[in-house]
Amino acid sequence: MLLQGEDRQWLNEVVGKLRTKMDLVSERSKFKIPYTTNGGTHDNRITDNPSGTETDGIYWWTNGFWGGMMWQMYHETGDEKYKEIANFSEEQLDACFSGYYGLHHDVGFMWLPTSVANYKVTGNPESRKRALHAANLLAGRFNLAGGFIRAWNDLEGEDTRGWAIVDCMFNIPLLYWASEETGDPRFKQIAMRHADTAMTAFVRPDGSVNHIVEFDPEHGGVVRTYGGQGYEEGSSWTRGQTWALYGFMMSYIHTGKEEYLNTAKRIAHYFMSNIPESGLIPIDFRQPKEPAYEDSTAAAIAACGLIEIAKAVGPLEKDVYIRAALKLLKTLDEARSDWSTESDCILINGSAAYHSGKRHTAIIYGDYYFLEAVFKLKGDDLYLW
Ligand code: GLY
Repeated sequence: MLLQGEDRQWLNEVVGKLRTKMDLVSERSKFKIPYTTNGGTHDNRITDNPSGTETDGIYWWTNGFWGGMMWQMYHETGDEKYKEIANFSEEQLDACFSGYYGLHHDVGFMWLPTSVANYKVTGNPESRKRALHAANLLAGRFNLAGGFIRAWNDLEGEDTRGWAIVDCMFNIPLLYWASEETGDPRFKQIAMRHADTAMTAFVRPDGSVNHIVEFDPEHGGVVRTYGGQGYEEGSSWTRGQTWALYGFMMSYIHTGKEEYLNTAKRIAHYFMSNIPESGLIPIDFRQPKEPAYEDSTAAAIAACGLIEIAKAVGPLEKDVYIRAALKLLKTLDEARSDWSTESDCILINGSAAYHSGKRHTAIIYGDYYFLEAVFKLKGDDLYLW
């Protein structure tokens, strides 16, 4: 992206701040896989299992992002230490393959920024094997009757056999990659069937999206929707909007199917028209005004998706997406970043969900997507999806 004048100067300054901060933090956290911070210090999902459940600890769905940050920094700086830390974090995830039961649809989030990244950068055959193994696990979750990839495994007290969630639009790039890598179209066919289903079952006419859709697992067809991590059923969980916005762009990038681009644009226009004057993104666009809960992670992911749309459209359209992305990123830099060298996080005020989980805290994928968006604007990011 060719930014000019003040925008270019701002971008150069942020890149400098990221390089300084990551140089220190990577050293401090080199034997960790962080999710959040406690008192400014990264936690460690290799050893911590805060909820004590099978899907937490080393199985936690965000465990690929730290490795992804390391690969982005390696690409940016060429410093071997980032590669070594990325390798360490990828190797830790092998425990998930042997344990198996804690894995679900989020294998894309876990192995795209680690093993696929490693394979793309270094050609490591072990990484290729891990990524193909993960792709097969994801493909195995496809429900033929409903045309969707099943989300989580059994949740306490819920029959989730028919549940699909919008976040999965970020997992299916693993399937596109597997087809591109092997020449076997099965993976891509499953990914496209899931994306086609999501276009009709998740995306609403106004461009907003549902978080969870339940299908009849035996015969297909929508049974009902859930508000999930947003405010309520029918509301508009902002991170879900961004998983869809950038997710449909990814499906477009891998397939060239125009409908995916148009869907991403429709969601983007809904999103952009709801960005508050402050540039701070709420947890849900339809939440009550007070408390004014925010989610910085949604802003960072949206910025990435908007920049990808700008790259795909003609010169007359580009500016609207770049301006919106810049507004989000500048707000994050100026108002929601912790550039101090003592604390391990970059972004503050990330929120896991409206009703449960941590709110207004550091979350690793907020940092990952902020970094990705900044490098995208520079025009030389490593595309991991
Ligand atoms: N993929 C779950 C989330 O966005 O919190």
